[in-house]
Amino acid sequence: MLADDSGNYLIKFHGFWFTPFFLQATEELLKHFKPLPNDVILASFPKTGTTWLKSLLYYIVNRSSIDQLTRSNPHKLVPQLELQVYGPHATSPPPFPSPDTSSSNRIFGTHLPYQIIGETVYTSDCRVVYVARNPKDTLVSMWHFVNTLEMFKTFPWPLEDFVDNFCKGHIAFGPYYDDVLGYHKESMERPKKFFFITYEELKRDPKTHVTKLAEFLGYPFDNEEQVEEVVRSSSIETLRNHEVNKSTDSFSFFEFPHNSYFRKGQVGDHKNYLTKDMINRIDTITREKFQGSILNH
Ligand code: A3P
Repeated sequence: MLADDSGNYLIKFHGFWFTPFFLQATEELLKHFKPLPNDVILASFPKTGTTWLKSLLYYIVNRSSIDQLTRSNPHKLVPQLELQVYGPHATSPPPFPSPDTSSSNRIFGTHLPYQIIGETVYTSDCRVVYVARNPKDTLVSMWHFVNTLEMFKTFPWPLEDFVDNFCKGHIAFGPYYDDVLGYHKESMERPKKFFFITYEELKRDPKTHVTKLAEFLGYPFDNEEQVEEVVRSSSIETLRNHEVNKSTDSFSFFEFPHNSYFRKGQVGDHKNYLTKDMINRIDTITREKFQGSILNH
């Protein structure tokens, strides 16, 4: 057991660190969650582009009700399994979203690593989309995010300490590297079931990757205009301008304000925050763990 700088305890479970809250929800999920064949599960490490992918997936799957995303935060429309569906603060208890689960196309998010949720999804025909992001931008994004919490307003979590925790894997859902590796391996072995995309690829060429994603999910686009509309409607510039996403209110199920999910949305922002030593330390670990094969950033 460890205590992080917020005073929360982290507990190790199958090689990953959890706050007691998420551990309780995870245990419930593992007992009860039975994915349906049409389900889409978006897996991600926190701060790697979950909100963006939730918006894209929602648009791809629900073409007829896309204006929902102008009124609701993507996290409301695509619930997180270990937060909104299972656990102490569940707001969308299963079956979600309707009891007629046989015909529905449900989309869920999860931060659970494949090493933990793997058996649950393995036995189902559901599809899994995983988004990965370069570790330095993930770290900086996460550091900003946690510091938006009320409890850090007076004494923000120092970046040096956060880098140290990230490198050691001592953060909620960490280690980051094992999470990426778990899903990457599965996507190599079973590409029909797993779609592995990086935040950076999606930024570089959203139209190509969104087209591939829609084909993978079985919802191909009819023409290029549709792809352009989905890309435009899911961009950070569009999403952050919806009233609901400008709000500083937080969800009933989580204490982060709505607007904290839309910060800069840039590749390489870590250069504005990390020192050379920090970058060297992270790059060394990244080379060791990924051996040049996954994220070359
Ligand atoms: P930054 O903090 O680097 O700006 P998550 O959704 O997994 O919590 O990740 C949040 C990160 O994704 C933040 O990164 C946020 O700004 C960025 N983001 C949110 N919506 C986005 C979008 N539609 N397009 C690109 N990036 C987005």
